[in-house]
Amino acid sequence: MSNVYVFDHPLIQHKLTYIRDKNTGTKEFRELVDEVATLMAYEITRDLPLKEVEIETPVTTTTCKMIEGKKIGLVPILRAGLGMVDGVLKLIPAAKVGHIGLYRDPATLEAVQYYAKMPSDIGERDLIVIDPMLATGSSASVAINELKKIGATSMKFMCLIAAPEGIARLQEDHPDVDIFVAAVDEKLNHKSYIVPGLGDAGDRLYGTK
Ligand code: URA
Repeated sequence: MSNVYVFDHPLIQHKLTYIRDKNTGTKEFRELVDEVATLMAYEITRDLPLKEVEIETPVTTTTCKMIEGKKIGLVPILRAGLGMVDGVLKLIPAAKVGHIGLYRDPATLEAVQYYAKMPSDIGERDLIVIDPMLATGSSASVAINELKKIGATSMKFMCLIAAPEGIARLQEDHPDVDIFVAAVDEKLNHKSYIVPGLGDAGDRLYGTK
C-alpha cells in the first residue's frame, strides 16, 4: 500500500468513531466530517514547498518561510464530496474549487460523468480530489480520468474511509495518485457499501434517504 497514507491521529480516529455511529444525527455528522476534513488537510499539505521571505519584526529584519504560492484546486465528487470542502478550505482558503458529478451506468455499473465545471488553469494546479467513501473505486477512477483528459497533471485523492477493493482499483488505474484516508475498512458488501463503513455518506450529510 505504498501510496496510501492512513491518518491515525487520535483526533481523527476519535471523530471518525462518532461519524460511523448510526446514532449520530445529520447536524453532528456534518460538523464532524467538516472537522476531520480540516485535520486531514493539515496532513495532506505537509509537502507544500516553502520559500524564504525577508520581513521586519518589531525588533529586527529576518528571513522566514512562506508557502511558495503553489496553486491548489479542490475537486469534490458530487454530492458527498461537498461535505469535506469547507473543512479543507479553512486551511487553504485561496484554493479554487471544481465540481464533478457522476452517475452509475445501470448496464456497466461504471461511473459516467454528467457534470464538470473546473478552474480554467487546472493543468497548473495541484488538485485534491475529494470523496468521503472510496468503495469500488469506479467514481474516483473515472473522475481522475476525466480530469487527466482536460489537462490535470498533479492529483491527490482524499477520502474518509476506503475499502481494499477501491484502493486496488485506484492503484491499478492511477498509480500516480496518492491516496489519503482516515481508515481502511474490511470489505464491500453485495450492495457495494463499505463494511463496517458509515452507511451512505451523502444521505447522512444531507438528511436524505
Ligand atoms: N458510498 C457511500 O456513501 N457509502 C458506502 O459505503 C459506499 C459508497
